[in-house]
Amino acid sequence: MTDKCKEDLFCGINSSGAPNPEEMNDLEKKHTPVIELSGSPKEGETFEVSIEVGKYLKHPNEHTHFIQWIELYSGDTFVGRVDFSSERSEPKAIFTIKLDHMHPLRALGHCNMHGTWESKKEM
Ligand SMILES: [Fe+2]
Repeated sequence: MTDKCKEDLFCGINSSGAPNPEEMNDLEKKHTPVIELSGSPKEGETFEVSIEVGKYLKHPNEHTHFIQWIELYSGDTFVGRVDFSSERSEPKAIFTIKLDHMHPLRALGHCNMHGTWESKKEM
């Protein structure tokens, strides 16, 4: 990655290097997808995954600046996607899923002004 690329939020996928929200800057707090699980998921059993962008610090939800979609992956395997409209829907999604292999969950959220942001959760 070049220095020029590091400054371009639309080049690649952004993520916070901070281990917890208290150490994130405001841009990271507004864009990092927050992954929460229901209970203690096990292979082959249905469980819920909640993903919310703006949980640490509310993200704008205006026609000119909003979260356009959230995607969920199990490792590199696509699990699901939700698209949002500005102002009419909040950037939060609940997926009901069943996995045969418990890879780390990855969530992507895309802001029309600040690019795609990723977070991961070990299973
Ligand atoms: Fe944004």
